[in-house]
Amino acid sequence: MATRLIDLSPSDMQQRLGDALAVYVDAMRYPRGTEDQRASMWLEHIRRRGWKAVAAVEMPDDLPDEATTGAPPATAPMLGIAYGYCGAPDQWWQQQVVSGLRRSGADRDRISQLMNSYFELTELHIHPDAQGRGLGEALIRRLLDDRTEKQVLLSTPEINGEANRAWRLYRRLGFTDVIRGYHFAGDPRPFAILGRSLPL
Ligand SMILES: CC(C)(COP(=O)(O)OP(=O)(O)OC[C@H]1O[C@@H](n2cnc3c(N)ncnc32)[C@H](O)[C@@H]1OP(=O)(O)O)[C@@H](O)C(=O)NCCC(=O)NCCS
Repeated sequence: MATRLIDLSPSDMQQRLGDALAVYVDAMRYPRGTEDQRASMWLEHIRRRGWKAVAAVEMPDDLPDEATTGAPPATAPMLGIAYGYCGAPDQWWQQQVVSGLRRSGADRDRISQLMNSYFELTELHIHPDAQGRGLGEALIRRLLDDRTEKQVLLSTPEINGEANRAWRLYRRLGFTDVIRGYHFAGDPRPFAILGRSLPL
């Protein structure tokens, strides 16, 4: 079974939102129903400046040869999803990160240098059955390929010893610590904010 990476237009994302959220819930091992809480937020994100989304889809084996180079069918099963957008001061995530930076003693120059021009890598998820084949790295590379921002920032849950695939991937790609052990408002879990300069 072949896998294809594709860009998702805003309308593709709207049409395939249920599939993308199903990948997210399975990858994060969240309880069923979490997707209902996230749907409106993911739709709102589409309208943000610089929004871009990419997906990994499974190409059916029984496609005629001439169809294997065209766009995959809209029903091609989704194996992975990644999206992000240009960070901005009116966004909750940036406000949280700025407050964390201030608390960690970062000065105004450091905060401006980080916040003036960055792409927020908001979501990156590969279905559990498709993890560990390099798809996550391929999706990040495609997502960041044509970015004009100076850096990319993301948040990921803290894990003992950085011992999971997400941490291995981000470290392999050169992401370094921006804030560690950060608590976003309303979430008891500690997160790390990681970043690196662009291009990748
Ligand atoms: C984090 C996540 C997106 C990474 O995607 P992935 O496709 O599983 O991982 P990668 O792209 O890094 O794949 C690398 C792994 O594939 C293996 N691999 C096999 N073929 C490969 C290839 N051609 N190229 C690169 N790696 C390959 C590597 O050996 C590596 O294995 P390892 O992690 O055991 O060392 C994915 O595991 C996931 O969705 N996890 C759960 C949700 C999550 O944590 N999301 C991020 C929240 S911030």
